[in-house]
Amino acid sequence: MDPKLEARRKASIYAVDLVESCISCSIAMGSGSTVKLFIEELSRRGIINMYRYISTSLDTSIVLRKAGAKNIETAICPEDIDVYVDSADEIDTRLNLLKGGGAALFREKIAMLSSRRRIIIADETKLVEMLGSTKPVPLEVEIYSLYYVMRELRKLGYEANYRESQSKLGPVVTDNGNIVIDVKTGPLRNPEEIDRILKSIEGVVSTGIFPYNGYEVIVGMLGGPVKVFKPNGGIEVVSIGNNGVNLH
Ligand code: 5RP
Repeated sequence: MDPKLEARRKASIYAVDLVESCISCSIAMGSGSTVKLFIEELSRRGIINMYRYISTSLDTSIVLRKAGAKNIETAICPEDIDVYVDSADEIDTRLNLLKGGGAALFREKIAMLSSRRRIIIADETKLVEMLGSTKPVPLEVEIYSLYYVMRELRKLGYEANYRESQSKLGPVVTDNGNIVIDVKTGPLRNPEEIDRILKSIEGVVSTGIFPYNGYEVIVGMLGGPVKVFKPNGGIEVVSIGNNGVNLH
């Protein structure tokens, strides 16, 4: 397996350990390749139907169904979810997140905010000093507002492009019928402030900046252990065996 995926798989194993005893819990699932590994691990352990899922994208709903999950909510996000499980495109030293690589940022943010416990799984290549260092900041934007938002971003001095679909002509359209604009901000010393500025533009539905919000961040090191960054500031280092067994 690719070392990054392997690191994410080990982090996912640890994440499943965290939720396994939460029988009948509701779990909001983010979107992307890491979340798929988490779902695979639930399926491998035969516990996929112990939970109620709140899906944040069509893609995640399909992955859940293929894994055998029966109880999946897709239409409306409940306000009292037990656990949110997701990944990120970048994680800075204060555990702020940059998300939206899969264009599911708005639903992910609502699901995250609606959850009591927030678990983020990643491999170490996602760790950065400052958000915006390796990726642009995605904005989910209502389609009618496209050119207005682009103009306002230009006024702020940002280079911005709407995200093009890879296998369909035209822009990526989100599960909410919106488009995504990727804004090249460069490294962000104060992501909370930039989040506020970008969100204040009329037509911007949400940004991919997820300021720190009590996340438990589980990071698989390449070829190494899993580091767990806890909400109380503590860091635990855990070894996960190749057979998927937590060695501690
Ligand atoms: C989707 C996201 C994803 O969590 C993010 O892009 C990371 O994806 P992956 O697990 O494939 O690296 O924000 O909108």
